[in-house]
Amino acid sequence: MRTLVTGGAGFIGAHVVELLRNRGDEVVIVDDLVTGLAHRVDGVEIHQMDLADLSVVAPLTELMRAKGIDSVIHFAARKQVFESVQRPAWYYQQNIGSLANVLLAMQEADVRRLVFSSSASVYGTTEGASILESDGTVPVNPYGETKLMGERLVAAAGAAWGLRGVSLRYFNVAGAASARLGDRAVLNLVPMVFERIDAGESPLVFGGDYDTPDGSCVRDYVHVSDLADAHLATLDNLGERADGWHDAFNVGTGVGTSVLEIVNLVREVTGLDIRPEIRDRRAGDPAIVVASAEKIERELGWRARRGTAEIIESAWSAHRANTGA
Ligand code: WQD
Repeated sequence: MRTLVTGGAGFIGAHVVELLRNRGDEVVIVDDLVTGLAHRVDGVEIHQMDLADLSVVAPLTELMRAKGIDSVIHFAARKQVFESVQRPAWYYQQNIGSLANVLLAMQEADVRRLVFSSSASVYGTTEGASILESDGTVPVNPYGETKLMGERLVAAAGAAWGLRGVSLRYFNVAGAASARLGDRAVLNLVPMVFERIDAGESPLVFGGDYDTPDGSCVRDYVHVSDLADAHLATLDNLGERADGWHDAFNVGTGVGTSVLEIVNLVREVTGLDIRPEIRDRRAGDPAIVVASAEKIERELGWRARRGTAEIIESAWSAHRANTGA
């Protein structure tokens, strides 16, 4: 297999690149290296390109042809919900513009297999029960809208010229396979807890009065190594599908964990005397977001193998190695 990985120097992309290389696949990365880090993927061919710029289509097509690419995994995107609310047009330009350019190049180079990074944020405000792929999709911020539009664009390319596409809807991704691959973005729960610890401050819990067992929000945390495995299973499955096929799959564990449970795990793993500080709710946070993980197991043969303890242990050891703590 020869796979082009956009955003391959990013946190999730680099984990997938490592697995592809470990099994002997050929990999070429395209990344603008704005949030990606080249040293995560040492030894892999990287082309630094801005995928949102219309002029990228011709060189990208040429790259696909020259390398004999047969599949694309498209990670490259902006992913901060808050930023997307402040800069909606830029988010559409970045996330939809880049996907459109990738699809134009794929069609031109006749590359027909695509795995697209989608997000649980396509569902919007959710109710308590575990979320099915067939549930309604009503995103509540521009970030989620770009992911939903992205899925539709992938499906439309299938209908128009036979692309085989899968949209993977990631739930809350954390953990690390190694220090080198660890997450450096600090706006999600686990890195934010670590950042507070580093500063000698109490981790913040946004809301202690939700209608959940302990009052804090519940999420579905999936280990990035499991998520990476899901991409390989998806890529392999695309080989068996008909041209024009598109479907969306949740990538979660089906298990909910509360913010307070995560903070407790951090206390156990670090052995530090950590006391959470309950603050007001953060605007826009649903109480419970947990995947139904049945469809992806049934149809693609993937399920998560690692639990929250392994997520926190691996994230903490990567964080310590990277900060010298
Ligand atoms: C998790 C829970 C916070 C920090 C978002 C996007 C989603 C995906 C992942 C992808 C929430 C609480 C957080 C802190 C806290 N994005 N929290 N104290 O909001 O579930 O999902 O990121 O690309 O699409 O919506 O993730 O990690 O920000 O928060 O109490 O210091 O932790 O309120 O309940 P979220 P998160």
